[in-house]
Amino acid sequence: MLESQEHLFSLPADLHYLNCAYMSPLPKPVMEAGIAGLRRKCDPSTIAQEDFFLDCDEIRRRFARLVNIPDPRTVAIIPSASYGLAIVARNSPVRGDQNIVTAADQFPSNVYAWRRIAEDTGAELRVVSPPESDDRSAAWSDSLLEAIDRSTAIVALGHIHWTDGTLIDLERIGAHAREVGAAFIVDGTQSVGALPFDVQELKPDALVCPAYKWLLGPYGIGVAYYGARYADGVPLEETWIGRTGSEDFRRLVDYQDTYRPGAIRYDAGESSNFAHAPMLKTALGMILEWGVEEIQRYCGSLVAPLAHAVRGRGWTIDEEANRAGHVLGIRMPPTFNTSRLKEALDEHNVSVSLRGDSIRISPHVYNDAEDIDALIAALDSAL
Ligand SMILES: Cc1ncc(COP(=O)(O)O)c(C=O)c1O
Repeated sequence: MLESQEHLFSLPADLHYLNCAYMSPLPKPVMEAGIAGLRRKCDPSTIAQEDFFLDCDEIRRRFARLVNIPDPRTVAIIPSASYGLAIVARNSPVRGDQNIVTAADQFPSNVYAWRRIAEDTGAELRVVSPPESDDRSAAWSDSLLEAIDRSTAIVALGHIHWTDGTLIDLERIGAHAREVGAAFIVDGTQSVGALPFDVQELKPDALVCPAYKWLLGPYGIGVAYYGARYADGVPLEETWIGRTGSEDFRRLVDYQDTYRPGAIRYDAGESSNFAHAPMLKTALGMILEWGVEEIQRYCGSLVAPLAHAVRGRGWTIDEEANRAGHVLGIRMPPTFNTSRLKEALDEHNVSVSLRGDSIRISPHVYNDAEDIDALIAALDSAL
């Protein structure tokens, strides 16, 4: 059973950092991999031609293991979720009589791409709000299912809602999207790495995951899976390294009409960043070693007493079945004094996020019960 891994991070000893959904701290081995990469650039003779490929290919293999992708070549290295989704948008034909389905209040990177398509084509953007229900996850998933019909071209969702951790039933929604022939696109930013995800079970057409939250990597790199629907697409950039034969630096001006296999064509230019790539490779290795199920179990057990304490004080938190263990929202009554809460959190050195009418709590393996106690003390002193 996983125990606190605080010793592998460099967080200040007195800080209660419950904010991985904002940004993860870098594990020490990840930071060291980055520093080693920067050092190599001080003496470029230490960077060999094969180094442009090796770490990226290992990232593909590790990410493939993490989410059960059969062929690592279907993984692209991307700089951000918006970039990964722009690839989908570019390669998804949508007609004016079709629609695109999303959940309400998604993160903007998973909204603007679809708004652009809707504006350019006249397609309808169907934004599905959560119905009033104690069974929030199932009720919202039902509403999303109802919104998908034979005219749906794209369904673009997260596995959880980024503001409060509400679980979206991707199994049922993905099956329905396939039935009607819609592209099924998943923004894994707030879930992959901490909540189990199986590409072969859930069958998304694309899955995008920047590294700086639950993949414990640096800011500015990430990974994306593109399935058969996007196997022959047009990349956003015509990179030299994405073309057949790019391994042979002597022949780069023998320009090629074909791409390297799979999703490698979608790699952003200069993806073989010699600091970022080894950092992401190292971070993925650590997550694989801990195991995603264990990470989810660890986070879930940390926040379990919180749910009890919060309800006892008259605030609301969703039942466990409705939300993830690694991201959850405490909803405050509308009359609650938020500036007093901010002060109390500062006084207790607790870092969480305020999103809408929720306090978003997002622990990871560097947290322990003391962090949750400090949060409860801060909430109490704000009452
Ligand atoms: C659900 C979700 N998607 C994407 C992102 C980040 O998007 P990008 O990588 O385009 O900056 C965030 C950041 O908070 C997020 O919460």
